[in-house]
Amino acid sequence: MNLNAGQFPNYRPRRLRSSAALRNLVRETRLGVEQLILPLFVRAGRKLRHPIASMPGVFQLSPDELLREAARAHKLGVPAVLLFGIPDKKDAKASGAFAKNGIVQQTVRLLKKELPSLLVITDVCLCEYMEHGHCGIVSRGKILNDPTLKVLAQTALSHAESGADIVAPSDMMDGRVAAIRAALDKNNFSDMPIMSYAAKFASAFYGPFREAAESAPQFGDRRSYQMDAANAREALREVALDIQEGADIVMVKPALAYLDLIYRVKTEFGYPTAAYSVSAEFSMIKAAAQKGWIDERAVTLESLLAMRRAGADILITYAAVDAAEWLKAG
Ligand code: PBG
Repeated sequence: MNLNAGQFPNYRPRRLRSSAALRNLVRETRLGVEQLILPLFVRAGRKLRHPIASMPGVFQLSPDELLREAARAHKLGVPAVLLFGIPDKKDAKASGAFAKNGIVQQTVRLLKKELPSLLVITDVCLCEYMEHGHCGIVSRGKILNDPTLKVLAQTALSHAESGADIVAPSDMMDGRVAAIRAALDKNNFSDMPIMSYAAKFASAFYGPFREAAESAPQFGDRRSYQMDAANAREALREVALDIQEGADIVMVKPALAYLDLIYRVKTEFGYPTAAYSVSAEFSMIKAAAQKGWIDERAVTLESLLAMRRAGADILITYAAVDAAEWLKAG
């Protein structure tokens, strides 16, 4: 901190706050539509818009409806979507995750055909495809690390083969970035970027998402693989590992309750850093706004700005379309 800052009455910070033009001139952080990623949930069907009760305005969409939603976002300037699939059938091998004609694979092909300039990012995880709802292979009540890596790599590769622009592993198995990088490189996808959910915490803020993705664990919880909310130094080691294994973009998740980590990850590594403003961050704002207790637009934009100020380059938010509209309106 520069302690040579001026002193009152020579220095009067209010001088630069007296008009919108002045405030705009000295603004340190900017929020722009080009920084936003919209998560979308896809499931089989036609003309399907199944509302998520805990996330007003968010739907499980059939591919045709998802295309419309993605086109609307893209038209407003949102550069990317992040796809989550809900398969018709779940099993103990997560077959739906890497099926050639799986729901995500189909949707990626559709989006890349119809909206080639929209970036399509795929969430690489197994929980939505597993009957037990865990992010890895389960044996005798334990989530197995190394056997899961092959399945994750196979899943990421199938997304790449379908035309995805970026793969985003969210499972938190150790070594998965390296496994995915190796599988991609071996199959001529050495140019495909990986955005890793590097510091992903076992968080109660994912509650509404599990309704949306139908991915709640059927026994136990995710604490044996996702991080303990108390650990910041360990989060930095997780990020370092993912970078060493080949991650191109690193993510902190959740966002608003973990701004310290966004700051530290950006400062420490200087890598492109994404913040995932997760489902409950969205739902809490929606709920309070519906009660008339807060201003939805102002609170949403202020929260996103806080993530930017902390150091995030990229913001993943369910409010991306609203935010794009609000930013456009100025
Ligand atoms: C899949 C995954 C989850 C989220 C993103 N990818 C759920 C979880 O880990 O339980 C959460 C996203 C959100 O809450 O918005 N593993």
